[in-house]
Amino acid sequence: MTTRLVHTRQELRGALANRSGEIGVVMTMGALHAGHRELIKVARRRCEVIVVTVFLNPLQFAPSEDLSRYPKTLESDVALCAEENVDLVFAPDVEEVYPAGEPQVRVHAGPLGDVLEGASRPGHFDGVLTVVAKLLHLTSPDVAYFGQKDAQQLLLISRMASDLNFPVEVVAVPTVRDDDGLALSSRNMYLDGESRRAALALSRALTAGAAQEAAGAEAVRRAARDVLDAEPGVRTDYLALVETSTLAEVPDGTTGPALLAVAARVGTTRLIDNVIVTLGGS
Ligand code: PAJ
Repeated sequence: MTTRLVHTRQELRGALANRSGEIGVVMTMGALHAGHRELIKVARRRCEVIVVTVFLNPLQFAPSEDLSRYPKTLESDVALCAEENVDLVFAPDVEEVYPAGEPQVRVHAGPLGDVLEGASRPGHFDGVLTVVAKLLHLTSPDVAYFGQKDAQQLLLISRMASDLNFPVEVVAVPTVRDDDGLALSSRNMYLDGESRRAALALSRALTAGAAQEAAGAEAVRRAARDVLDAEPGVRTDYLALVETSTLAEVPDGTTGPALLAVAARVGTTRLIDNVIVTLGGS
């Protein structure tokens, strides 16, 4: 089987028209790595037809952010997709996705989009949900796969699908990490040796926090915070321990699952990571 690269909505429609079986979609902004590959592999186990979208969505970047320097590697992205037997790569340009310019009508993320990443990146999730809604309409999948690495994005996309009755099943895929613990990200390409070393403080902090889960929320927060504070190369944007579906900060004494999430700057690169912990009562 060969992987077909298409750029227009019309080509995409034509290529999907005579396929049968479940369609799985993996949406990406390109610069594919082993995290994206894992999403594709999980999709491949279930779906007959796999579509990978590669689209650097300007709507989800603020003017001050890294849209212009974001890595563009379409050729190697398609090669990775071919290795994984992806059926279709849909790589439209901006005019193809937004033919009338910036959309006047957008999906609004609501309060879940205002906290954590949303507090640091106002409007970001409206941009994400708007393009995800469009790409769901264009690819009409049965299943859509998203990474736990972007936990808030995953939650919002799941809520969009259920709150707005999108006929798609949203499936979460666990975070893929390098051997040293660093969560894979297209933005890791920005890191040089020293900043990559400093960046390890994020996953180290999450591991240290998770190790205190039996001792409760305050112990988890303190252990994670201590690791971040000890690394001068990292400027923490937020460290939060929140309820997994409301994203509300959990009070001490809470038991059960919670999301420990971190965002930090290492040099000019902003990184995020998270882990689910199970808080004990002691
Ligand atoms: P991008 O950052 O390219 O990520 C595409 C998908 O890969 C997302 O679902 C993300 O959570 C997942 N992913 C990234 N790194 C991962 C890792 N280390 N382990 C597991 N999954 C990982 O997220 C986006 O693009 C965009 O916001 C998008 C949803 C495509 C909308 O533009």
